Amino acid sequence: MIYSRVIGTGSYLPEKILTNQDLEQMVDTSDEWIRSRTGIAQRHIAADNEMASDMALNASREAMKAASVSAEEIDLIIVATTTPDVIFPSTACILQDKLGVKDCPAFDVQAVCSGFVYALATADMFIRAGKYRTALVVGTEVYSRILDWSDRSTCVLFGDGAGAVVLSRSDRPGIISSHLHADGSYKNILTAPGNVCGGKVQGTPFVMMEGNTVFKFAVKVLEEVVHEALAENNLKASDIDWLIPHQANIRIIISTAKKLGIPMEKVVATLEKHGNTSAASIPLALDTAVRDGRIKSGQHVLMEGVGGGFTWGAVLVCW
Ligand code: UT7
Repeated sequence: MIYSRVIGTGSYLPEKILTNQDLEQMVDTSDEWIRSRTGIAQRHIAADNEMASDMALNASREAMKAASVSAEEIDLIIVATTTPDVIFPSTACILQDKLGVKDCPAFDVQAVCSGFVYALATADMFIRAGKYRTALVVGTEVYSRILDWSDRSTCVLFGDGAGAVVLSRSDRPGIISSHLHADGSYKNILTAPGNVCGGKVQGTPFVMMEGNTVFKFAVKVLEEVVHEALAENNLKASDIDWLIPHQANIRIIISTAKKLGIPMEKVVATLEKHGNTSAASIPLALDTAVRDGRIKSGQHVLMEGVGGGFTWGAVLVCW
């Protein structure tokens, strides 16, 4: 059997930090409200000239170094992003050029905060099919550019950053299973509904969210998709060594873990330091737990995400 294995992880957060105290000076909010309602203390903000591909490049270089993989060995690049550098070409093609990778397929995946899970599942399919050997999978976002900084209900939630993994063909698992879902009938509860037409933005280009509806939907589908992954592999919740959830809100993470019966000691939560970085949030949390030694060889790691679309999914990995 052919499997794909994660052989290296990397991440990057921009230098500039925006704290809850900084936000208190910008909108009618408080550190206490943000911390208690979301678990977020600070977020990183990309420099004016720093693009999604630049952050992706930094995270990718770290992941490739950890995997001891050179640019010549990469034969597939998938970038998950909602905030691409430009309308086209894809951020994956721009990243390919910056990395000096020659002649391999490179494309973006747009599944908002579930983007990394979608991208990882896609790369896994290509490797399992025997088509490619070494894939670079990246989540990178500059949400600071699509936030209305006068809207306290959204601007306190998001941040910028990138995370990456190198996936390699292997004869042992690896990625055990992936589970992807979407329901477009919920397209309006989390959206940046603007578009470009005739050289102008039509509609609003900023993130708009029905926070409470999204919250309830997220807890429901994340519980369901984790049960789906466990059932397909005849595993129990207690068999999961590490749950790596999308880092949107600590209350969503706690509620989901509680419903699943997974103790918080087995849950990786990093959002306090970087807020919701959408497609970058899962690989950022994963890289943290790999580098600090929490995730060990042979352990079951379950990543799960949910985001605009609505999209949601999970990837189960034997590390
Ligand atoms: O990444 C994709 C998935 N995204 C998510 O998972 C986000 C899901 N949603 C959430 O995380 C939460 O719904 C929020 C953090 C966005 C909001 O928390 P909530 O407990 O659902 O609060 P709420 O929207 O019900 O608002 C409660 C109150 C409102 O005031 P009133 O109407 O009760 O007087 C808001 O106006 O909090 C007010 N509020 C704020 N107050 C201070 C909203 N934003 C702020 C703020 N600072 N930044």
